[in-house]
Amino acid sequence: MSHNTFGHLFRVTTWGESHGPALGCVVDGCPPGIRFTLKDIQDELDKRKPGQSRFVTQRREPDEVKVLSGVVTDDDGETLISTGTPISMLIENVDQRSKDYGEIARQYRPGHADYAYDVKYGLRDHRGGGRSSARETAARVAAGAIARKIVPGLVVRGALVSMGTRSIDRANWNWDFIGSAENPFFTPDPASVQVFADYLDGIRKAGSSVGAVIEIVAEGVPAGLGAPIYAKLDQDIASNLMSINAVKGVEIGNGFEAARITGEENADEMRMGNDGTPLFLSNNAGGILGGISTGQDVIARFAVKPTSSILTPRKSIDKDGKDVDVMTKGRHDPCVGIRAVPIGEAMVACAIADHYLRHRGQTGRI
Ligand SMILES: Cc1cc2nc3c(=O)[nH]c(=O)nc-3n(C[C@H](O)[C@H](O)[C@H](O)COP(=O)(O)O)c2cc1C
Repeated sequence: MSHNTFGHLFRVTTWGESHGPALGCVVDGCPPGIRFTLKDIQDELDKRKPGQSRFVTQRREPDEVKVLSGVVTDDDGETLISTGTPISMLIENVDQRSKDYGEIARQYRPGHADYAYDVKYGLRDHRGGGRSSARETAARVAAGAIARKIVPGLVVRGALVSMGTRSIDRANWNWDFIGSAENPFFTPDPASVQVFADYLDGIRKAGSSVGAVIEIVAEGVPAGLGAPIYAKLDQDIASNLMSINAVKGVEIGNGFEAARITGEENADEMRMGNDGTPLFLSNNAGGILGGISTGQDVIARFAVKPTSSILTPRKSIDKDGKDVDVMTKGRHDPCVGIRAVPIGEAMVACAIADHYLRHRGQTGRI
């Protein structure tokens, strides 16, 4: 299976399967002198790791990262400094239960990658979904933690804004609430926790699943990243987000809403600010015009479909072409959108870091 690499100058290659001994990534192109700690990476991985509430898969993976290459340790014994050589990171799989996937070796889960994967490769590691499992995304989150350090002042944050038919009240938006212990959903609206909890408990107990929409906001993106045609910043952000498992839609700025409003409503008007820099009076464009960042917040949203592996029997076929009813055993997220929040943040951070380095390469300035 080829195509395991994304990015141009900040280039990430991931490797490993859901039920193999380990997975990881190689980050190639990180400039020398970038400073970060193991904790910076682990904190991001801890946001994504399974088993943290009843609303996510009960697979128990500590997701402890090891940095194998590409860094030296500073005198404080804690800070890692990139040397400019490939940074290789490894995360062990410790809680596989491959026997849960016995039947999936021959049957195709409706909505999952099983059928298409078999048609293409004729051979697949069915245990835990193999390479099409979102376990692979742990490696992207590790890479994203380094990407965040490359652009000075960059802050990339994500929030779950709707789950199935339930949505947050944007008037209650509080970024500080997202990291709180009482918030298993990455919602920015404290009032939505109980609503999501009751809703998802019902879905979970019914052996079903539900989708979600996640919003990513990147602050501190310098103006000028991207290019007008084949290297649009929005194009690469969309591509990175669309590459996440189960993502079926991406919007930049007001996205599909732009098609429903007038030019007067949609255009972000400008004035000169008191400090002599341009001021945008709105941000419908999501911080990107003509493929190039404007210096406003970069805003993207993505839609995640409901988990395909569900306990309710669904009609399908097996490898021999026989009709079967598939009921997926094993441990699964009833709403994979929850754990997709840190993955989305990482993929946007990687796109921005890559464009930052490309901009520097082309213009010699930032
Ligand atoms: C964090 C995360 C966890 C996931 N866990 C599961 C899971 O437990 N069971 C499942 O059927 N799909 C899960 N998925 C989705 C599948 O990986 C995905 O639907 C599958 O690879 C097919 O790809 P596609 O949905 O992009 O077409 C997860 C996705 C994400 C982002």
